[in-house]
Amino acid sequence: MVSKKSIADELKNSQELIKALSLDIDQTNDGREIKKFNEVVGFCEQVIRIIETYPQNREIVFLDCSCGKSYLSFALNYIISKRFAKETYFYGVDTNRILVEACDRIRDSLGFKNMQFMCAKIIDVFPEKPIDMIIALHACDTATDETIAKGIKLGVKYLIVVPCCENQIRNRLKSGHPLVDLTDFGLLRYRFADILTEALRAQFLTGAGYYVKLLEMISPKFTPKNLMIVARRKKRSKKNNMDSYKKLDEMFNTNFVLKRYFHDHDFVPDNYSGMVNC
Ligand SMILES: C[S@@+](CC[C@H](N)C(=O)[O-])C[C@H]1O[C@@H](n2cnc3c(N)ncnc32)[C@H](O)[C@@H]1O
Repeated sequence: MVSKKSIADELKNSQELIKALSLDIDQTNDGREIKKFNEVVGFCEQVIRIIETYPQNREIVFLDCSCGKSYLSFALNYIISKRFAKETYFYGVDTNRILVEACDRIRDSLGFKNMQFMCAKIIDVFPEKPIDMIIALHACDTATDETIAKGIKLGVKYLIVVPCCENQIRNRLKSGHPLVDLTDFGLLRYRFADILTEALRAQFLTGAGYYVKLLEMISPKFTPKNLMIVARRKKRSKKNNMDSYKKLDEMFNTNFVLKRYFHDHDFVPDNYSGMVNC
């Protein structure tokens, strides 16, 4: 049975993994690591729910975007290998070379041979194996949009992201839209920008042919950045269209970054069936 508690216990019991990740889960420092641990547990829970219903027996390939020190991928790799008789492969990508090298060292120390880390921008990676699932935990600001764009371009089956800071449209909401009476107030403008950003992402994914669910990965008492976008590719849809996305984008004049990764003709319904490797 999958539950946050069972995942947390399983991870805590793996002394080797916790030590290799240098995660101070006994909270002897400022508590940042226990916060990260809880985020990882919440994320793992959702991925495991998907794996439980995963139909095929072939290898499941993950791409962890903005992986940082790859706590999430290492934890998932460990848990899935313990719970399921399924082969997995994990790619991690991050622009920070020091972190990528740290991931290589952790992988070697744990003897996890099914992991590869790349120092690059998300949008620039073309992994050798076809990707089933893209995951991203707190990819900074527009790195979440790069992740979503990459997932759509690769035609991945699942895309699961927990966004980080949502800075890109805050300043555009000061004027020129129907809700200025709301966004006149700085605090409300910030909160509304966060909501609008996630709505734009969700509508873009829907328009690109994904079923989209928004949920809370963990309780907000652990982190306010707990909104998770879970997107599953529809089998084949002639109804792909960006009308809802465009309506929102135009209403608030957001010039949202996601669309810059695509051409208008990419989403003409009859042409679209997952833009593999474009
Ligand atoms: C807040 S950290 C999160 C790291 C990790 N996912 C975690 O939860 O611990 C964000 C990471 O995104 C990386 N990053 C930012 N922009 C990126 C991009 N365009 N492509 C790849 N990595 C990026 C940074 O180097 C940083 O390691």
